[in-house]
Amino acid sequence: RAMAILREFEEKCATPIGKLRQVADAMAVEMHAGLASEGGSKLKMLISYVDNLPTGDEHGLFYALDLGGTNFRVLRVQLGGKEGRVVHQESTEVSIPQKLMVSTSDELFDFIATELAKFVATEGDDFRLSAGRQRELGFTFSFPVKQSSINSGTLLNWTKGFSIDDAIGEDVVAELTKAMKRKDLDMRVAALVNDTIGTLAGGRYFNEDVVAAVILGTGTNAAYVERAHAIPKWHGLLPKSGEMVINMEWGNFRSSHLPVTEYDHALDVESLNVGEQIFEKIISGMYLGDIVRRVLCKMAEEAALFGDIVPPKLKVPFILRTPEMSTMHNDASPDLRVVGSKLKDILGISNTSLKTRKVVVELCDIVATRGARLSAAGILGILKKSGRDTVKEGAEKQRSVVAVDGGLFEHYTEFNKCVRSTLRELLGEEVADTVFIELANDGSGIGATLLAASHSQYLEES
Ligand code: BG6
Ligand code: GLC
Repeated sequence: RAMAILREFEEKCATPIGKLRQVADAMAVEMHAGLASEGGSKLKMLISYVDNLPTGDEHGLFYALDLGGTNFRVLRVQLGGKEGRVVHQESTEVSIPQKLMVSTSDELFDFIATELAKFVATEGDDFRLSAGRQRELGFTFSFPVKQSSINSGTLLNWTKGFSIDDAIGEDVVAELTKAMKRKDLDMRVAALVNDTIGTLAGGRYFNEDVVAAVILGTGTNAAYVERAHAIPKWHGLLPKSGEMVINMEWGNFRSSHLPVTEYDHALDVESLNVGEQIFEKIISGMYLGDIVRRVLCKMAEEAALFGDIVPPKLKVPFILRTPEMSTMHNDASPDLRVVGSKLKDILGISNTSLKTRKVVVELCDIVATRGARLSAAGILGILKKSGRDTVKEGAEKQRSVVAVDGGLFEHYTEFNKCVRSTLRELLGEEVADTVFIELANDGSGIGATLLAASHSQYLEES
């Protein structure tokens, strides 16, 4: 009976290549619709106000704040221009107390400003601020924001584990600036960026072939470089570069082609943002472990997978985290010893048979494979929209690099391998040889400092 549940789930999660192509096509169609008009698509296709990516000339001392991944991070970077590049870099990481994610805007921003102030106080001699200058900051805020300039924008809605009602509709830069004042910290926010935008900027700094960035972490999202005249909803001046970076917010993508199961439906209904972020809920690190837990729970209830009683911990939402799922999935021992001890430690289930452990591994594989293959389909959608999914006759081979960051991609080996192999499969050998997926670990932090530098209030003087 447990096997029947597993097989049925596997069937519903199937992502044959034809389905992935439909997903990629649907993604490209929605991209067009989201660029055409405000609210034209589930894909918000947000304008980032970044129309120039880093050149290497950026220099000076800049700070970055990074909110929205697993940890909240602060960093400072001394940029040395073409010669020196990143001269010095220091950072610190703080985990956000769970209760602040569902508190008030003031509480959250006070916490951030306090941590930032502590970090600024440790600035040593390796870092040099030109005399008389105010410190400047790139703020990576990884949620959907409607920007009105490079350093202002209102929060549209929260995603991932955050839900702070009074922040919605507020300018997050103004909120941060007020909190900094309350903490006596004199700093100017020079750039407000999504983590995808930061990763794209950071990626471009080190490799000029970077054309898109994808986050596969707690949440998932992508950004890419679009031609400005292909954005009908943009009514501003045409940028000199002719380009504009777009934050797709692809986590909110949905399509009838997505393989969605009863477990995904239940997860969505019980989530903080019902009906939203459907793509994210089947792909990203915040959710994968919980999907596995839900299927295990059903197997325990209806097929006594773990004996006569349903282990009570199996009913606890989010108790099985994706890193633990990854560890189990990766277990290469013949008796699946690691799976056995994880089931015991996390779920309080002891003495599992090898057969049961195999079911667990297979389940992890089904869930991770679906997520990874859909991520690859999303990337294909971007390449299609950018005309980079074919090799042009006669033309010099163009290289397309996609910078990828996030814990899911970085640490979940099977997931990572599957994204890469699926993209190859989708593109075919010849095109696949022109497309590169690069891990851009912490690209977003450096990226935010670079964008702060290129939007510094002192730019004219320097
Ligand atoms: C970090 C980036 O490396 O990855 C963040 O600097 C980003 O901006 C994060 O949000 C995503 O990873 P995770 O796995 O912590 O959500
Ligand atoms: C969520 C956020 C998005 C962010 C992504 C990755 O999808 O809405 O802004 O880029 O997570 O962190």
